[in-house]
Amino acid sequence: MPTLVPRPTEAAFRAGHFTLDRSTTLRLGAGTEPAAELLRDLLTPATGLSLRPSPDGQFTLALDPGLGDLGEEGYVLAVDPHAVLLRAAHPTGLLRGIQTIRQLLPPQALSAIPQRGTRWLLPCADITDSPRHPWRGAMLDVARHFQPVSYLRRYVDLLALHKISVFHLHLTDDQGWRMPIAAFPKLTEIGGNRAESQKGPAGSGTYDGNPHGGAYTRAELADLVRYAAARGVTVMPEIEMPGHVRAALAAYPQLGNHPERTLDVWTRWGVCDTVLGVHDEVLDFCRTVLDEVMDVFPSPYIHVGGEECPTAEWTHSAAARERAAAAGLPGPSALHGWFLGQVGDFLVRHGRRPVGWAETGAELPLDFTVMTWRDSSHTLTAARRGHPVVSANHRATYLDYAQSDDPHEPPAQPGAVVDLRAVHGHDPVPEDADADMAGRVLGTQAQLWTEFVTTPAHIEYLTYPRLCALADRGWSGATDWAAFRSRLGEHTARLDALGVQHRP
Ligand code: ACM
Repeated sequence: MPTLVPRPTEAAFRAGHFTLDRSTTLRLGAGTEPAAELLRDLLTPATGLSLRPSPDGQFTLALDPGLGDLGEEGYVLAVDPHAVLLRAAHPTGLLRGIQTIRQLLPPQALSAIPQRGTRWLLPCADITDSPRHPWRGAMLDVARHFQPVSYLRRYVDLLALHKISVFHLHLTDDQGWRMPIAAFPKLTEIGGNRAESQKGPAGSGTYDGNPHGGAYTRAELADLVRYAAARGVTVMPEIEMPGHVRAALAAYPQLGNHPERTLDVWTRWGVCDTVLGVHDEVLDFCRTVLDEVMDVFPSPYIHVGGEECPTAEWTHSAAARERAAAAGLPGPSALHGWFLGQVGDFLVRHGRRPVGWAETGAELPLDFTVMTWRDSSHTLTAARRGHPVVSANHRATYLDYAQSDDPHEPPAQPGAVVDLRAVHGHDPVPEDADADMAGRVLGTQAQLWTEFVTTPAHIEYLTYPRLCALADRGWSGATDWAAFRSRLGEHTARLDALGVQHRP
């Protein structure tokens, strides 16, 4: 019997199979056309099957409100020798079920080129499936190294195969600003390019001499959002503030604490001490940027970064000290929470949910959804305060760390090794969480920061198979490492059929 990644909640296989061939037609219930389109997009390249609609098709897609207990992503799949029936309460559930059907077929079905001589057999099965956690995310940093939108589409395809629900797109940082904002064209014209990049880790003092740059068009990003939505993946944008903004300050120095100073787009790695000012013009800027971000990205969640913001510039700025006093704050360092409160309120007023990286789990305004990354105790701290939490502990979810201590691993973030087992072993819900706190843990997410990652091949080497482990744990909650390893062995044939340059 085929093994699936992520593992379904309940699957029973029976003898026999359904054969997909040129006579197979689709019986489409109301509202299932988009799912049928995805099924064809995924299967036609390899199989050549056209899977036309027909009122008496053997292969049925149906929306069934009776399955509401399975949630937005749940589905039920029944395969018999003469019929396939995929049902879900919500269109997203159908999209998840289609990825299961794809994995039940021979791995050749995942190829991008026509496969001759393969019989397209689906094993007879009854599967009832829904995720343990709604948030199973993957973050890609396109600020440190830009990737074209054509690659982002492939990246989304691979997320969808693993039933990942959120593609977190890290669009801005000290080293690059990748999203155009009509009112501030220099953000990408100047902020989208840097003169060179640091070689090796933060503090190395050596540089590669290679200019690097890139930015998306608004149309490309809007198209990516549609492409991902058709696969059941939400693109959540991240615009960093009030730190990690050196690229924006290079474009618009008046947004900083020293308007007379000219800054370059940062060529170093690490934490940059130049941050946004706290004057009205800066808040107007942030609102204008976020307005355009909300226009392009319908995601209910908008990430505004928030981490690693040194407050020394505010301490030394008379204007910032005045702002802190006027806002009734104990001192300039409290401007960090105040700033995030301002932009968070703005997003909430527009019906969105602000997301931020936690430094301690206790410093973000309460309407923030918190991504905890520094310390495993921060998940509990944030959940106890009442925040919804996405657990992104760096020791288990940062894919920019090497996968082993083998000196032949490609360049990676120094300081830790995150092997496959560490990713699989990460339970997003802390052991000592009570039921209320556990209920606030939305799920987990993988991070790929790209200081040392310049090519799609390197992205895929670092991402796979570790993302398979995160997807499995986040969807099924299954903790059995040996069983996962055994399923992954078979799943590797699927990655190979897709040409994923995974780590062996
Ligand atoms: C982070 O790693 N800067 C969230």
